[in-house]
This record gives sequence, structure tokens and C-alpha cells, in this order.
Amino acid sequence: MPASEQITPYEDDKVSKKGQVTSMFDKIAPYYDQLNRFLSLGIDVLWRKKTIKLLKSYQPETILDIATGTGDLAIEAALSIHPKQIIGLDISANMLQIGEEKVAKKGLQNVISMEVGDSENLRFDTDSFDAVTAAFGVRNFENLEKGLGEMYRVLKPGGTLVVLEFSKPRVFPLKQFFNLYFKNILPLIGKLRSKDQRAYQYLYESVQAFPDYEKFTAILDKIGFTQTNYKTLSAGICCIYLAKK
Ligand SMILES: C[S@@+](CC[C@H](N)C(=O)[O-])C[C@H]1O[C@@H](n2cnc3c(N)ncnc32)[C@H](O)[C@@H]1O
Repeated sequence: MPASEQITPYEDDKVSKKGQVTSMFDKIAPYYDQLNRFLSLGIDVLWRKKTIKLLKSYQPETILDIATGTGDLAIEAALSIHPKQIIGLDISANMLQIGEEKVAKKGLQNVISMEVGDSENLRFDTDSFDAVTAAFGVRNFENLEKGLGEMYRVLKPGGTLVVLEFSKPRVFPLKQFFNLYFKNILPLIGKLRSKDQRAYQYLYESVQAFPDYEKFTAILDKIGFTQTNYKTLSAGICCIYLAKK
């Protein structure tokens, strides 16, 4: 199986994975939230709530939400944890534009600011944030270890990393059902609604290639994170990975 870094949205050798991922999210941004809710039957909202609930016990005051997209995790963190500051960073300007509108509608501009940036080259100083979060983002990195290394660098010593990401269910019959749904049904609905031929096919392929469960915590260990562990959600459709610096 190819490494997740080798899985790209489009078959275009001339454009890097990062460039392709940016174009894809810029294109599907207007449909992204609606498709998330529809394709997951609304469960994605509960996954993010659970992720923030786990982070809440650490009471972070400054949070960097990597690959914030349309801002759902950042908004949930603001409403539930009440930190002083959240920065939501994403490589897709179109995703952020929708995120900023949502933040304004909820009156959270004083807490959440959003900016375009690449997680693999963060502009922030070392030891800057109490917590770094990422929901469904790290799977899209061009260089996974570089991105995670940057997340480690900007965390304060003792700070908390929380990553929510798809994983491959291991138990019968969910494993078989998930495969059928993710491989055949979801890309078809995604294609019709988002008008992008490949986006939801890429979702399936990137989840297949992603190093999940112990493979992911082993990468976190290698980077230097401590107390790495994970919690499965919905019988392994997703995992929340937790680690400390
Ligand atoms: C599946 S969306 C997740 C958005 C949001 N976190 C959520 O929970 O809905 C993945 C996001 O990762 C962003 N992304 C991918 N690679 C990135 C990178 N290198 N730096 C910053 N953002 C990136 C994409 O632009 C996209 O908005």
C-alpha cells in the first residue's frame, strides 16, 4: 500500500500533493459542511464534540487549530472550553472564508482568528500554544512527519496535542460495511453534490493509506511526543489521538 503522502486528489504529476489538496478544498468549500453532515448522518458533529471534551480537562488558554477548514472544531473549542485565543490555520482560502462567516455569525471574532498558512511551515515561535488540534487534516499533509514536527515545535512544553482522524474499522461486520460505503456509495454522492469527480474517491484512498491506531502513535513517539494514546470512536471509524509535549 502506498504511503498516505503518495495519495493525491488528482492524477497530475506536475502539481504537488499540497497544490492539489488546496485546489480540491477551494473547489468543494461551498459544499463541504453540508456534505459532511449528510454523509456522516450528522455524526461528525459528535466526533468533534468528543474531541474537544477530551481537551477541555487540560483547560488550554491558547489553541492552534491546524487545517481548520470551515472552522467547526475551532468553534466547538471556543464554545466549550472558553480559551483566550484560538488561531485557525488552513491552506485553502475558500474554506477559511466560510469559516470566518460562521465565526462572525456566532460572535466569536474576539476569540477565533483565521489565517491562510501551511501546517508544514508554521510562522509561529517555538513553544507558543497550550494546545494544538487538527480534525481530519493530517491525512492530507504532503509530508506527515514534517507537519507533525511543526505541531510539536509550536506547542509549549506540557502542552496537549489532539488529532481527530478517520481510521479503518477492524471489526466484522462494520469493517465490511464501512468499506462498501466509503469505497462505492460515498464517492458517488460526493461527486454528484460537490461537482468534483475525485474529492470523495480521494477521501477513501487517503483513509486506506493513512497510518492509523498504533502506527500513528508510533510516529508521534518518534517525533518526541509523550503519553501518546488513542481512543476509537464509532467502532473504529475515527480515532482521537492525544499526546503531550
Ligand atoms: C477534511 S478538511 C477538515 C476541516 C476541519 N478541520 C473539519 O473538521 O471539518 C481538511 C482541511 O485540511 C486543509 N489542509 C490540508 N493540507 C494542509 C496544509 N498543509 N496546511 C494547512 N491546511 C491544510 C485543507 O485545506 C482542508 O481545509
